[in-house]
Amino acid sequence: MAPKESEIAGGYKGVSRATTEKHMKQKINVGIIGLGTVGSGAFRILRDNAELIRHRVGVPVEVTKIAVRDATRDRGVAIPAGVLTTNPSQVIDDPNIDIVIELIGGYEPARELILAAIARGKHVVTANKALLAADGAEIHEAARRAGVSIGYEASVGGGIPVIKALKEALAANRILSIYGIINGTSNYILTKMTEEERSFADVLAEAQRAGYAEADPTFDVGGIDTAHKLAILVNLAFGAHVNLKDIYTEGITLISPLDIDFGKVLGYKLKLLAIAKMHEGGQAEARVHPTMVPDDYPIAKVAGVYNAIQIVGNACDDIMLYGRGAGSMPTGSAVVADVMDIARRQILIEPSRRAQPPLLELPAGNATSDAALALQPMESIVSLYYFRFMALDQPGVLAQISGILGRHRISIAQMIQRGRKQGGSVPLVIMTHKALERDIQKALVEIKSLSCITEDPILIRVEGEEP
Ligand code: HSE
Repeated sequence: MAPKESEIAGGYKGVSRATTEKHMKQKINVGIIGLGTVGSGAFRILRDNAELIRHRVGVPVEVTKIAVRDATRDRGVAIPAGVLTTNPSQVIDDPNIDIVIELIGGYEPARELILAAIARGKHVVTANKALLAADGAEIHEAARRAGVSIGYEASVGGGIPVIKALKEALAANRILSIYGIINGTSNYILTKMTEEERSFADVLAEAQRAGYAEADPTFDVGGIDTAHKLAILVNLAFGAHVNLKDIYTEGITLISPLDIDFGKVLGYKLKLLAIAKMHEGGQAEARVHPTMVPDDYPIAKVAGVYNAIQIVGNACDDIMLYGRGAGSMPTGSAVVADVMDIARRQILIEPSRRAQPPLLELPAGNATSDAALALQPMESIVSLYYFRFMALDQPGVLAQISGILGRHRISIAQMIQRGRKQGGSVPLVIMTHKALERDIQKALVEIKSLSCITEDPILIRVEGEEP
């Protein structure tokens, strides 16, 4: 039977009335640092859904302080008088604030503020993927020592509840692999390039004008944002920290409509994928790069700004979570859910009944080791590959290229040569069977040096079955 509201507010059945009353809080006070896109979404949800949130948490959840850089800026939300401050210490040092929501992003001062909040015994909710990917171990350890929680559902996949899924719903599984489209900006650009046959630069410029892409899109289109999010997912899925620098990361800046078009002909869609795999024997892979995905795979159909994360567990098999990976209200929804969860599981419950350490910090896997997970070096991964060479259209070219591939144990599965230009170069596309990355890179160096090759070759990794 579901607990009555009074039971939730005062603790659970079986807790003595004296203990319950001593511990009972009448309200959860929240401080927000940073009122940008996500902060204003979270604020709106806490305001507009206040009654529903009060009912589900058991007591009201109120934003009592918000620290911003510029208090005069219009953010489209009315903030009650006395709540805004330009000094984040007023949030961190306020003894009445139970939960600090950090939404300024970046490394510093976010890291310092989060650690200061933890040191003052406050629970923290954050969307800061860059910080968690780099310093998550330190932050989680500080929180563990202080007995507080870090909620970070909003750091990966915006409104998609992937963190909770890994921590709780999939906790009975050994996670075998993760495939993610977890950067909306890149997916939007690739989708437009695919549908409208336009260049990367052209679509990026349009996305920036429309406000879909940041003025500085380096993290998004360079794959770095995706790598940050993948590091967080891998921590949970494989139960160990990864060093960000060990995640091979390649963005979409060199993708041309020509390769997207050849992909279509061969039955593939081009996506920026975050890939993590745990092989039998404990070898783990984590990488981010443009990937050709078979057209009929569900993840190939994820278009525009949408995100999706496909997870394969040894018991649940194949699942896919899909939704909006960014935006004010979807990401705000993840932030507020963490606030509600922490309020119920950590604050409104009698201390002796709390999970120790707080359930929210427990990765799904083995969290006992401090050592970073050793990832397979990129050169030892095995994949299918797509090559595009621009080569002079003359006798013997194909023989030279296929000879080099053969010497490096790379077997050709399909080949396309299109167009014939008098004296000019033509695209030569080759799909391989499974090959070792080290062999592929060695072969590329040799092929590049052939006098018939007129441009740097294009190499794209391919997922799916052998062609
Ligand atoms: N910049 C990210 C994206 C959203 O384009 O998906 C925030 O994580």
